[in-house]
Amino acid sequence: MSWSPLSLLEGKEEMKDAAADAVDSNKTTRMEILYEGRYYDVTNFIRRHPGGNVIKLYTNEGEDATQAIQQFHNRSMNKIMLMLKSFPSRPATTVPDQQQCKLY
Ligand code: HEM
Repeated sequence: MSWSPLSLLEGKEEMKDAAADAVDSNKTTRMEILYEGRYYDVTNFIRRHPGGNVIKLYTNEGEDATQAIQQFHNRSMNKIMLMLKSFPSRPATTVPDQQQCKLY
């Protein structure tokens, strides 16, 4: 078995999470989920998702997770919304610049 620096944090779950987050945030590939017209950055959340890896399916380009999120968490949507709002996010649509908007 190969040695990993994370083994120094054995038994210190919170520190492990923070260390793994630091590694994650250095990665250039971010993972996003589309919910009601907004992309939410779930890169650091994915491995903590209590519902497991199924969430990854919804990070694929073109996937809209809105229905899945509402259906799988219908008894806890208030909590889910608070969690979503704590993630970095961006609108799914960009406002075209004025030049392109000109109709005449
Ligand atoms: C970023 C968006 C999401 C957040 C913040 C989130 C959060 C959570 C949380 C907190 C739970 C624990 C149970 C609860 O409180 O409802 C959970 C469970 C679960 N989630 Fe998600 N989730 C997200 C996206 C998804 C997606 C896209 C799916 C796709 C199918 C999914 C499927 C599930 C399933 C199957 C469970 C287990 C439900 C159960 O055991 O009753 N989640 N999620």
